[in-house]
Amino acid sequence: MVLQPYYNAVFRSVFILYFRKYFKCMYPYSFINGKIIPFNKAFIQVNDLALLRGYGCFEYFCTYKGLPVLIDDYLKRFENSARELDLPLPYQKNEIVQIVMNLLKKNNITEAGIRFILTGGYSEDAFTVSKPNFIILIEPLKIPEKNVYRKGVKLITLKHQREFSSAKSINYLTAIRNFHVCKKENAYDVLYYFNNHILEVTRSNFFIFKENNLLTPKDDILHGITRKIIIEIASKEFKIEERELPLIELNAATEAFLSGTTKKVLPVVMVDKLKIGNGKVGLNSKHLLKLFENYISKRIQEFQDKYRISH
Ligand SMILES: Cc1ncc(COP(=O)(O)O)c(C=O)c1O
Repeated sequence: MVLQPYYNAVFRSVFILYFRKYFKCMYPYSFINGKIIPFNKAFIQVNDLALLRGYGCFEYFCTYKGLPVLIDDYLKRFENSARELDLPLPYQKNEIVQIVMNLLKKNNITEAGIRFILTGGYSEDAFTVSKPNFIILIEPLKIPEKNVYRKGVKLITLKHQREFSSAKSINYLTAIRNFHVCKKENAYDVLYYFNNHILEVTRSNFFIFKENNLLTPKDDILHGITRKIIIEIASKEFKIEERELPLIELNAATEAFLSGTTKKVLPVVMVDKLKIGNGKVGLNSKHLLKLFENYISKRIQEFQDKYRISH
């Protein structure tokens, strides 16, 4: 009798282990329109505008020590994306936080990616927006290997500007269509530019150092949460320039890096055939990565205190 909770926990862990193995990537429980359900039963109809026309927005962020530490920042951007696409969010922000906490508990996770998806809804004429479907998926976290940070990465440039650039829309047509070019050219990712100005990487923001000045594009990009944090923490030590960044300024860059939720501060040592600085990972970028990790440790502590989570 006393052993019953122990058996339940073991049974649940074994179930989750086999489920993940069988379904390759997802954790077993997802959330769709008000219900926490097993991932293999999480369906929406095929006449959703997300499928028919690519109409919808999403968010993606990760846990730290199993907690959705930066959820408030990502929810704010999610609200903004929904507003830009004129899609009503079916839940209040505090309700979504509660759902995520429940989902994480139910999935018994250590570290995970959390994806919110808000679709255009079921459309009778395949064009008119209706009531959105709201989905939350819990996914295994994929982060770059340590040696990628040690060596830095190469980017290749492509002329492109994302539609509704300040919204995190589900449309990644150009990014996915060009992924094979990256592989062929031994590059890590694609750097978008438009009108000869650098914009962003397919799923990251872009920064350069010119000595101790830190520069990053300001407009026509997705304003990354990682970008925002980097600007905040770097402003204490470096001069920040958020402005238009002509492609030609890459020639004067002493260092470059990309920023994103899973990549944090990832050094860029080459763009097309141009070596950035001396072609090696720079000290400022390494230092920023440390500052970023310290910042996250502080936010973990604040989150634990706010939700009275015992450590
Ligand atoms: C187009 C684009 N730019 C920038 C980013 C980086 O944003 P964040 O730091 O919030 O991950 C992303 C993230 O997915 C993105 O898709």
